[in-house]
Amino acid sequence: MMRREILTAAAVTAGTIAGGTLVAGSAAAAPGGGDAAPGRGTAPGLAKKDTLAFAAGSAIRIGTAVAGGGHHDSQDYPPPFTDDATYRELLGREFTSLSAENQMKWDFLRPDRETFRFDEADAIMDFAAEHGQVVRGHTLLWHNQNPEWLEQGGFSADELRALLKEHIETVVGRYAGRIHQWDVANEIFDDDARLREEQNIWIRELGIGIVADAFRWARAADPQAQLFFNDYNVDGINPKSDAYYALIQELLADGVPVDGFSTQGHLSTRYGFPGDLADNLQRFADLGLRTAVTELDVRMDLPDGAEPTPEQLEKQAEYYRRVTEAALSVEGCESLTLWGFVDTYSWVPVTFEGQGAATVMWEDYTRKPAYHAVRDALAAASGRAGHPALER
Ligand code: XIL
Repeated sequence: MMRREILTAAAVTAGTIAGGTLVAGSAAAAPGGGDAAPGRGTAPGLAKKDTLAFAAGSAIRIGTAVAGGGHHDSQDYPPPFTDDATYRELLGREFTSLSAENQMKWDFLRPDRETFRFDEADAIMDFAAEHGQVVRGHTLLWHNQNPEWLEQGGFSADELRALLKEHIETVVGRYAGRIHQWDVANEIFDDDARLREEQNIWIRELGIGIVADAFRWARAADPQAQLFFNDYNVDGINPKSDAYYALIQELLADGVPVDGFSTQGHLSTRYGFPGDLADNLQRFADLGLRTAVTELDVRMDLPDGAEPTPEQLEKQAEYYRRVTEAALSVEGCESLTLWGFVDTYSWVPVTFEGQGAATVMWEDYTRKPAYHAVRDALAAASGRAGHPALER
């Protein structure tokens, strides 16, 4: 069965695709040696199982960010989540967890002080419910992507405290019982492992105690969600992850409801692989925490628009495989999320000049070696290795 037919059938059955044309049905050959499109050459009964979600089984939640807001607003493609039918189709069937890439951040939700703009976040929640997926909420307390009216508002300490409390009660409360994990606090330490006492408006104006309050307010608003600290460059054991290790122990001793520690996992083939990733997650697990990898992508240097070389793709696949294996090896690591799954919508080329190709699929949705690396590592852990659906 051809891919186009599968997608069409699925779209009709699901009845949720927003009137777009299917763009990738006649995919051109993938640059740099991509694999066949999903479903192609697979017996009809097995095609639906030829996914990361099936490979993972119940071993771990395999997630992706849902593209929207942030850098997407300045790109020349239509909104992926509503207008790209292939994207939507794969979002629904490849993954068992979704994260809001930008749609639950302050600058997206709060265009002005009085208004909460929940339309896109609600749409993600509804999509997840329809597809049996869990959702990771991202994020409540951060130094980035805050609206101008907040950063420049000249608010007193009391006003800021009240604003954050209201925000958490409203946002976390709205989705109470429907969020698997919340990134309550994001990136509170800088690259020198120092608290962002200047950059982070909340910490600057209210002190570190506001972080504990944020966790308490989140717990009160949704007793079921697991509450996380999340950051980048904390994959391995290093001064920055040490800072979290120390802080979290203090908070736990004070009875602050911290449930989890997650590493984003924005990696580059330019750097060596953080080989102590599992050991790092394990030490947090040993504190009684859940752990997660929340924003995995593996970028590479592509100067002057170069295509990835086979060596780069192989190294990328190895990094994806090793992260997946590390996540699977740590008890209480319940979710592994990719920061997007197709290069078209990746934040990487927009953010890191001369770098790209960071996701597991080419722009035409064909699969890279990295896709197979993740899938095979998942299948090995779930007991589904060798299943006929996954044999290609
Ligand atoms: C990124 C988004 O992917 C972009 O769309 C946006 O323009 C900037 O933010 N760490 C995080 C994520 O916690 O929220 C960031 O997401 C990537 C780095």
